[in-house]
Amino acid sequence: MSAAFYVCFLLWCFQINAAGAQLPPPHNLNVISMNTNYTLIWDWDQGSAESCAVNFTTHYVAKFMLRSKKKSPNWNTGCETTSHRSCDLTNKNLFYLGIYVFRVRASVNGTDSDWATMDFCPDEEAALGPPSKVALSPEGRNLDIVISDPLSSTNRSMREHHEDLYFHIRYWERSADGQVRSSPHTPPTNSWPNQTIFICNTKIIRIQKSSNFNLLLLM
Ligand SMILES: *[C@@H]1O[C@H](CO)[C@@H](O)[C@H](O)[C@H]1NC(C)=O
Ligand SMILES: *[C@@H]1O[C@H](CO)[C@@H](O)[C@H](O)[C@H]1NC(C)=O
Ligand SMILES: *[C@@H]1O[C@H](CO)[C@@H](O)[C@H](O)[C@H]1NC(C)=O
Ligand SMILES: *[C@@H]1O[C@H](CO)[C@@H](O)[C@H](O)[C@H]1NC(C)=O
Ligand SMILES: *[C@@H]1O[C@H](CO)[C@@H](O)[C@H](O)[C@H]1NC(C)=O
Repeated sequence: MSAAFYVCFLLWCFQINAAGAQLPPPHNLNVISMNTNYTLIWDWDQGSAESCAVNFTTHYVAKFMLRSKKKSPNWNTGCETTSHRSCDLTNKNLFYLGIYVFRVRASVNGTDSDWATMDFCPDEEAALGPPSKVALSPEGRNLDIVISDPLSSTNRSMREHHEDLYFHIRYWERSADGQVRSSPHTPPTNSWPNQTIFICNTKIIRIQKSSNFNLLLLM
């Protein structure tokens, strides 16, 4: 390695570091997700740039595009020059099984920070929402519960992405004084691939979706 190249390399590094130190990049990147709604959020330390308006630019790309050594990846724009610390990527039609890289940088008065990046895979990381609708109708001593699938941001069933989607149902009995008896019942089988089930003599029914969500219905 020639000395001239080495010096240039050092100078180049120094410049990058100096620029990065001037304007801190965003940090704490996180995706708030529900079904196919994805909102990237981040923090940014205002620091010395306090008096200036700050803008953020968000990009995204399929991760495999970054592996190509031949050409630099074509980053897509998520949000351009927003002052919010969030970017709604819902309408970008991300492929549910894909792995993406999101990146965001801060800009103040024409100076850009370094990019902060994070990976995101909807299939593994997006939260599954609750049933989009639950309808109850008493039928004699039975109760019909009609559960509608969680919906994507385009109002399609999330079953298109999770073929094995099923519902957990729990119910409690209520005593005469209105107290809920402590232990919940689980109907005879706790998974229904389809939508209509019957439960006898229930007063309170709780329907759980996935492990995260639940809906309490009071009758
Ligand atoms: C995504 O969810 C957020 C938070 O609930 C909401 O504000 C936003 O409008 C949703 N985006 C779309 C495109 O529906
Ligand atoms: C930065 O954002 C402000 C609003 O926060 C806007 O007025 C301004 O035009 C933006 N700057 C650039 C370079 O886009
Ligand atoms: C913005 O940048 C210009 C040129 O680099 C400089 O003259 C000006 O003082 C800066 N403004 C602020 C508020 O830092
Ligand atoms: C989804 O359905 C809701 C309620 O019917 C409606 O308000 C909304 O506009 C629909 N969204 C789309 C993207 O079709
Ligand atoms: C499940 O419910 C859907 C919609 O009500 C219906 O079209 C489908 O035939 C049902 N599947 C089975 C196996 O009963």
